[in-house]
Amino acid sequence: MIPAKETFSESVTVCAGPSIALTKYWGKQPEGINRPATPSLGVTLGGFQSQATLTLTGTGHQVTLNGQTQAIERFQPFFAAAVPYIKEGRSLNAVCGNNFPTGAGLASSASGFAALAYAVAQLSAETLSSRDISALARVGSGSAARAVYGGFTQWPAGAEAAEPLYDADYWPELRLIACLVDSGPKAVSSRNAMERARLTSPYYQSWVEDAQALHNEALTALAAKDLEKLGDIARHSYLRMFGTMFSSSPPLLYWHATSVALIQHTERLRRQGMGVWETMDAGPQVKLLCLVSEVSTIVGSLNEHFPSLETVVTHVGTGPCLSDSTKD
Ligand code: PMV
Repeated sequence: MIPAKETFSESVTVCAGPSIALTKYWGKQPEGINRPATPSLGVTLGGFQSQATLTLTGTGHQVTLNGQTQAIERFQPFFAAAVPYIKEGRSLNAVCGNNFPTGAGLASSASGFAALAYAVAQLSAETLSSRDISALARVGSGSAARAVYGGFTQWPAGAEAAEPLYDADYWPELRLIACLVDSGPKAVSSRNAMERARLTSPYYQSWVEDAQALHNEALTALAAKDLEKLGDIARHSYLRMFGTMFSSSPPLLYWHATSVALIQHTERLRRQGMGVWETMDAGPQVKLLCLVSEVSTIVGSLNEHFPSLETVVTHVGTGPCLSDSTKD
């Protein structure tokens, strides 16, 4: 039985960071909402943030994202799952924004729905557990289930909610360099793309069957803070995921020429002895994993070879929080 809170607010503003997967969630189980076919290991980023102001109203659900009113259909399942937690008869007005490119393969839907789910928990008369918040965020966007926690999280195959593994301060030397190849929104959303892969790629079943073993290896590497191993597994995971995209019908081609050039450049840097491994999501951006001690050499090399490329160095971030304007 969830205890009732003594008081609760009518409006709240919260922030959350995106969760980038080192082993990928790619494909849904046919039953339920956003139940993952594969386990994933996520790291929550500091620096990139979604902010959401959620207000209880009586005028129907509404969402504004980066100043634009959104079609409500995309948010309906989330609101349907959120409504039982809020005052009867009320609807939700969400005003959201991101300080990084939206819908471009930088997990803005993960941070956005994690922020919204955390905000619902603040507005609720009930006390929601982290697991409840993760399960609610999942309904909005699968990867958001991980972003309700800081640090490192895993989301097991088929699970309703993700689980925290290690806090944000577990591996303080770890960095992720986001290479912004193209900040425009992608043509096919990850939810549509993974469904296309499930339905049409002849390799999809093998991807699912292989994913658990790779994920287990990633957990072992993370427990040992073995970046070489973890980086190698992260590469296998994203490349195998893309294998299902290239083999879908019609094929899914998120990569740009610069994405490929960055993958090859990262390989060259590794051959020169640098500890840097890339990962990608459903978009052209390339994210590089490395240790803080190598950041300046890597960024220097990127600036030299890709002079017009924007890079952002991020660290492992904490979970969602109330924004300063809402704190007492
Ligand atoms: O949560 P969604 O529906 O945006 O899907 C995320 C899919 C990937 O980013 C490619 C992988 C992941 O685990 O985050």
